[in-house]
Formats: sequence, C-alpha cells, structure tokens
Amino acid sequence: MKSINAINTSQVVNILLAICVLLLILKLSNNPKDDMSQKNNTLETIHQRKSVRSYTDEVVSQEQLETLVKAAMAAPTAVNKQPWAFIAIREREVLDKLGNGLPYAKMLKKASAAIIVCGDLNKALEGWEQEFWIQDCSAASQNILLAAQSMGLGAVWTAAYPAEDRMQTVKETLNLPEHIIPLNVIPIGYPTGIEKPKDKWKPGNLHWDKW
Ligand SMILES: Cc1cc2nc3c(=O)[nH]c(=O)nc-3n(C[C@H](O)[C@H](O)[C@H](O)COP(=O)(O)O)c2cc1C
Repeated sequence: MKSINAINTSQVVNILLAICVLLLILKLSNNPKDDMSQKNNTLETIHQRKSVRSYTDEVVSQEQLETLVKAAMAAPTAVNKQPWAFIAIREREVLDKLGNGLPYAKMLKKASAAIIVCGDLNKALEGWEQEFWIQDCSAASQNILLAAQSMGLGAVWTAAYPAEDRMQTVKETLNLPEHIIPLNVIPIGYPTGIEKPKDKWKPGNLHWDKW
C-alpha cells in the first residue's frame, strides 16, 4: 500500500514538473512586443481621451492636480529647457472669473479645477529658437489631458495663445508677469459621461516612405 502511494506521488510530481516546463517554454516563446492582443493601457488611454466639457459636482483634489502637473513636467522639451510654468486653480471665484472672461471656456464655471499651461520666456531658448516654447508647452498639455483620462478625470484644452484678447484676460485675472505667456486653460473635473472619444483614424492621412 505504501509503495503504491510512493509511485503515485512521484508520478504526480513528475507530471507537475512537466507542466511547469511546458508553461515556461510557452512564456519564453511568447514575446509580448509581438502580441497585439495583450492589453496596452497607454494606447487605451490615448484612444479613450476626449475633450470633456461637462462635469459632476465631485471635487478634484490638490494631490490630483499635482499628479497632473508632474505628468506635464515629464514631457520632452527642446534642449531640455523646460520653459514653462503651471498655475493650478481650485478657487471657485477664480474659475468663475476666467469662465466669464473667456468665451470658449465657459465650462470653467462647472469645473472644480483648472490648470493654466504657460510659457516662461526667461527660461526659453533665444532668437529664432524661442518659439520652441509653444511646442514644449503643447507636449506638456497633452500629458495633462492623457494623465487626466487615465485617472478617471475629464479635461479640455481651451486656447489662450495666440488669441491676444484671451491671453490678456488670463494675464489680468491671474496677475501674470510680462515674461509668462498663457498657452491654454485646461478645465478639469469628473466627467458626466456624455462625451465619447471620436474615431479620427483616416488611412489617407498616412503616407508611406514618400508623399
Ligand atoms: C490648440 C487647441 C485649441 C483648442 N481650443 C478650444 C477652446 O477654446 N474651447 C474648447 O471648448 N475646445 C478647444 N479645443 C478642443 C478641441 O475642440 C477638440 O480637441 C477637438 O474638437 C477634438 O475633439 P477631442 O478632443 O474630443 O478629440 C482646442 C484644442 C486644441 C488642440
């Protein structure tokens, strides 16, 4: 009885070992880079992002805003100049004042927070290269939008630069010094869920190897 038990146990161990080796071989031969069926959270966030202009009453916290600005500051910049400054707003009075003054950012009056992405000309490159600040701050802005999407928040890029009147409204409302140029105002809140991502994939806009 004892020896039969011993044989059974060793057989079971052998079978388990064989299964482990098989699983290991399968895992090693399965390169995740080639497996498009695997979940890719980054691509999902990119494709789920949409401009969100309607929000619930739930409040966005200071920590959440800091997380968003950290994501912004991770963006690439020309010559790594990081020629930017960010203004995070949670005060109702300031959000309303901006919402009243900016005709294309009225949703600020419903948002519980906003981030203003600004170029800092004192940190920017000089001469013809100065305008790289616009691209640098745009990359930072897109990071904010994607980070917001990934955190279950909703946001929308509303333009300040290059509209002189809108820049003036932001400068006056926030008391910005001369060398700080507001690129945009990004209202942020919890989405009501009415906005959906748009499918913008147009194969005709992609050219392979030459025009
Ligand atoms: C440079 C720029 C300026 C924009 N300005 C505004 C704006 O002033 N107000 C607004 O509601 N949306 C604004 N948007 C958002 C666009 O309307 C939106 O991205 C576009 O309709 C595509 O929709 P989606 O973001 O949901 O994909 C702006 C977007 C960009 C990139």
